[in-house]
Amino acid sequence: LNFASDNTAPASPEILAALNEANVGAVPSYGADPITTRLRRRLNEVFETELIAHPVGTGTAANALALATFVQPFGAVICAEESHISTDECGAPEFFTGGAKLITLPSSNGKILPVQIEAVVARARDGGVHHVLPQAVSITQATEWGTVYTPDEIAAISATCRTLGLKLHMDGARFANALVHLGCPAADIAWRAGVDAVLFFDTTLAEGFERRRKRAGHLWSKMRYCSAQLDAYLRDDLWLRNAATSNHQAGRLGAGLAALNNVHLVQPVQANEIFAAMPASVIAALQEGGAHFYEWIAVEGVDAPVIRMVTAHSTTDAEVEEFLELASKV
Ligand SMILES: Cc1ncc(COP(=O)(O)O)c(C=O)c1O
Repeated sequence: LNFASDNTAPASPEILAALNEANVGAVPSYGADPITTRLRRRLNEVFETELIAHPVGTGTAANALALATFVQPFGAVICAEESHISTDECGAPEFFTGGAKLITLPSSNGKILPVQIEAVVARARDGGVHHVLPQAVSITQATEWGTVYTPDEIAAISATCRTLGLKLHMDGARFANALVHLGCPAADIAWRAGVDAVLFFDTTLAEGFERRRKRAGHLWSKMRYCSAQLDAYLRDDLWLRNAATSNHQAGRLGAGLAALNNVHLVQPVQANEIFAAMPASVIAALQEGGAHFYEWIAVEGVDAPVIRMVTAHSTTDAEVEEFLELASKV
């Protein structure tokens, strides 16, 4: 019963099969191969625009290198307090930007608001040369609290960014889960809502990225093996099918937990994450019963401790049922 993170899930068989398919003959290295070209074409189709995509090996590299292309060392990135770039990347955005500052904003659900961005920029302008220069806003879709920005919410943030001269970056670690929740085209929560990166929808921003990627050690020589995985992920809607399964199982877990005495959800379940408050004794009993999840940060106004559970494409009905049975027992 492993609900610790979707990072613990196995890879989709389709993706492993694609690695074998790619493993034939000699092809040009460093991204000049036909599979990388096919991946780029597929991304253009999925997002209905000509974009620039440079595969990297981790989300941290994608975030940090993208931000480094449009934030200067004396610049700042505005983001939510709990954003992955601020809490889980060991200072990579600061390192790769050459020292830019992350200005974090409080939020009750992982989402930041235009009014908060405006206040930060006004303060920075008052500070003049003494203050870092806000140059980008970074939002996470779905957020670190499992909530999903709507196209209108993103468009409102983007409009504020445009007015204030900021670039808008999106950490799309759970982009597919958000997409399945919203049921809209990918473009509607990306460039059509004003997002500039991490796929570069504003292609002029991509300049310099390739050298930064190389410098960071993220230009794979045998790029076909990276691209083949992403290509398979997008082929036949695997990314959306996987996300639909994980969202569905999260919804079942959330509903099952919410129906129990002494348990309540501290966020709506919109993607593949569940945040539930429950007595410490229940948490301990669940763990003793073989369930794995993270004990999360305390939530203001909630007395009981909070746990985070994450589902994946591989989460089965049987696992969900077994967990809910255990939960109702304890
Ligand atoms: C919101 C978010 N952004 C980015 C990442 C990327 O992390 P990594 O560098 O481990 O691939 C993760 C990993 O789980 C994440 O949850």
